[in-house]
Amino acid sequence: MGELNTPGIIPPEHNPELAFLLNRRSCHKLMAPGPGADALELILRAALRAPDFLRLRPFRFLVARDGGLDRLGQAMQRAAIAAGKDEATVARAPDMPRRAPLLITVVFSPKPSETVPLFDQELCAGSAVLMMQMAARAQGFGAVWRSGWLMFDPGFHRELGLAAQERIAGFLYIGTPAHPEPARSRPDEDLSAFTSWI
Ligand SMILES: Cc1cc2nc3c(=O)[nH]c(=O)nc-3n(C[C@H](O)[C@H](O)[C@H](O)COP(=O)(O)O)c2cc1C
Repeated sequence: MGELNTPGIIPPEHNPELAFLLNRRSCHKLMAPGPGADALELILRAALRAPDFLRLRPFRFLVARDGGLDRLGQAMQRAAIAAGKDEATVARAPDMPRRAPLLITVVFSPKPSETVPLFDQELCAGSAVLMMQMAARAQGFGAVWRSGWLMFDPGFHRELGLAAQERIAGFLYIGTPAHPEPARSRPDEDLSAFTSWI
């Protein structure tokens, strides 16, 4: 992306940046290869460009690939056992991070501030997840933002060494799309259902 467009209506077919935004989609079936070191750095740098009131940096990133995915899976299994999950969930846990070759756990890490409300900081951490998904996609990778019970499990938080005030904003799975991207499946939605004028 070069200079910004001059303000005015440039339809998506002549506006790659806009088309990129309008066509954003998640990719659930991911395979190797995942992003290498350079691509990953750009993904993380994009996260740092999330809107951030007073630049508090209310997030941190736990990155796993290769053996890290196994260590994370083992931590998930220990958390599943400690949480009293059923046998199938416990058995599945070690493979959960293997949905993709790279998994970024985004930790919401609020900072003390008299100016920036906690909710603003949460939104910032969520924006960081989206920025990373977009940066992955901009480099040809697919990504999906997932949650699930582990995201809210205190035992798993302890496994990851989260501080008391920290939470998980999401698991971002990143890899090579296993299938070519299908054409947009959803019809354009009625904006009036979400939008009104004040
Ligand atoms: C905070 C958050 C948590 C999510 N958790 C899950 C999840 O656990 N599993 C899932 O299939 N999709 C989850 N999603 C939705 C997917 O990321 C994705 O948006 C959805 O599959 C729709 O696809 P699209 O992004 O291509 O429209 C979550 C989205 C958000 C914002």
